[in-house]
Amino acid sequence: MLNSKKYYNIIARDYDLLSRERMNYLNVIDNIIISDNKNKKIKNYLDIGSGDGRRSLKIINSLEPLNSTLVDDSQKMLEQIKSKPNLTVLNNSFFEIETEVKFELMTCLWNVIGHIDTNSQRKQFFQIVDKLLDSNGVFYLDVNNRYNISHYGYSNVMKNLEMDVLYPSESNGEFYIGEGDKKTKVYIHNPFDLGKYVNDLNLEIEKTWFINYKTGEIKETFFEGQLLCKIIKK
Ligand SMILES: C[S@@+](CC[C@H](N)C(=O)[O-])C[C@H]1O[C@@H](n2cnc3c(N)ncnc32)[C@H](O)[C@@H]1O
Repeated sequence: MLNSKKYYNIIARDYDLLSRERMNYLNVIDNIIISDNKNKKIKNYLDIGSGDGRRSLKIINSLEPLNSTLVDDSQKMLEQIKSKPNLTVLNNSFFEIETEVKFELMTCLWNVIGHIDTNSQRKQFFQIVDKLLDSNGVFYLDVNNRYNISHYGYSNVMKNLEMDVLYPSESNGEFYIGEGDKKTKVYIHNPFDLGKYVNDLNLEIEKTWFINYKTGEIKETFFEGQLLCKIIKK
């Protein structure tokens, strides 16, 4: 079993192909973020777990923030980013971000926080977000959703629900991605987990979208999609 950093260093060259398989889903999220923030003056933008930077650069080119920072702990993923004025690329874990800058726009896209190991570290992640987000700032993140019947199927979701009701445990969200010797652990959230991380902080979930993982259609219920959350200061 590989840790996230090793896993992404190994698959970095094929990452573009993997992204293409989910392009409808990824594009809809990029479009929501871009249309939500059009005409806003953004001084500082931060993309957490930027990977190859393809989506960060799309957002940067559309919204033209004055300064942008991308952070990812996989060197091989970051090597694919072409340098650009006013762009800082940091090769470290998001747990190690050290800055006094406050960000008006922050993103963390495609189940990046699924690579965090424990609930207490997930809470620590949101404390960092709380510290970095400007008082008028907005933070978007999407996570995979273990109650998504449209993607994982009825019987798997019923099992997930049963586990959460009868045997609530942090390990209920632990799954694996990859094949053969290229495998890593991921956490797949349920729709109620995220609220628990932010409740004690100065953050609130302003809106959640349910997005079909295949077509990118925006759906009505959490049984029909992955979760995109827009988080602001209380
Ligand atoms: C599924 S990829 C998403 C990449 C990009 N956001 C996108 O949408 O294409 C997850 C990314 O999170 C990064 N990541 C995982 N844990 C991290 C950590 N602790 N610090 C920084 N980056 C991390 C991985 O290296 C990988 O590039």
